[in-house]
Amino acid sequence: MQTIVYKIDETEENIWLKDAGKVLADGGLVGIPTETVYGLAANALDEKAAAKIYTAKGRPSDNPLIVHIAGMEMIHSLVSELPESALKLAEKFWPGPLTMILPKSDIVPYGTTGGLDTVAIRMPSHPVAWKLIYDSQIPLAAPSANTSGRPSPTRAEHVYDDLNGKIEMILDDGPVGIGIESTIVDLTGEVPMVLRPGYITREMLAEVLGEVIIDPAILDENKDKNFKPKAPGMKYKHYAPKGDLHLVEGAFENVVRKICELTEEKVSQGYKVGIIATEETKTIYEQQIAGNDAVVIMSIGTRKDEDTITHNLYDILRRMDGADVAFIYSESFGEGTRGQAIMNRLLKAAGYQQIHV
Ligand code: TXA
Ligand code: MG
Repeated sequence: MQTIVYKIDETEENIWLKDAGKVLADGGLVGIPTETVYGLAANALDEKAAAKIYTAKGRPSDNPLIVHIAGMEMIHSLVSELPESALKLAEKFWPGPLTMILPKSDIVPYGTTGGLDTVAIRMPSHPVAWKLIYDSQIPLAAPSANTSGRPSPTRAEHVYDDLNGKIEMILDDGPVGIGIESTIVDLTGEVPMVLRPGYITREMLAEVLGEVIIDPAILDENKDKNFKPKAPGMKYKHYAPKGDLHLVEGAFENVVRKICELTEEKVSQGYKVGIIATEETKTIYEQQIAGNDAVVIMSIGTRKDEDTITHNLYDILRRMDGADVAFIYSESFGEGTRGQAIMNRLLKAAGYQQIHV
């Protein structure tokens, strides 16, 4: 299959909008930008179209898809119940990076929900995603547009690298803003529960709803307890870069010293090593490891603005793959408002290998 790529800023709106809408109406797949990550979209109400998503991504079929809507009118036919809590969250956070789990209606196929009686719904704020859904009036099932197990795509090039030849179209609108996937909150239980941390934090949800809990299965301290996460996708090892990633955590000077030590050790054994630094520490590593071709140092962003860190996170994992490093050592980012979301992604990418110093 030939994958058509439309660059949004070079293509007239009536062309990409009409062509992408036609692919979706015909049951095909389109890679689309959203404010979180690029999504791989299909008609959520067409079971055969949804099935193609699983094939293209190599995704396990028990891992349900998120259904994207544009406008509150679209939600009523998709859910069998719309609690007050959902309306309050929608009012405050939609369109935006929040996904709500609600009881599904009969028109949503089990092929979209991975066999569950609930459905995940999100209203994206990205203008391209929004226009496409609004114009076509098709609710779009869209997981992240990566091959299963690879870092989520934050640029159209990432979608192309993983899915060229497997999908009909990609809408390229440059890098996304946020860079990590939406927060998922389950509203079907007695107390709202965060199933996946994201840009919108538990505290932000609690301000609107009162008590909000976090699925105990996704907390680091329970990682060895074999709890079953409520979001099926959270049980898979995710986002794994090819290099063996370790996170180093502790006081700033200790972290830098440990990363330099580990790097020197691996380089002396003949390996190529990547270091994930910050704007604050990049030059320190450069001075320590000066002029060594076997070391690649990349800055993930600045600790003064954690949005820069979410923005670059997946891109840096992919660039480390491109640099062909055998080992990657990264600083840790547990503090701050988005620390939980950032560390959730990084720890999974590292297979929970973390060194405390
Ligand atoms: O930001 C995002 O949410 C992006 C963009 C494209 O919108 N999408 C995304 O989709 O991250 P995906 O498929 O990579 O992740 C969907 C997650 C999975 O962990 C899945 O198990 C969970 O949502 N999920 C979907 N439906 C669910 C349901 N009914 N109950 C529990 N978890 C559900
Ligand atoms: Mg994903």
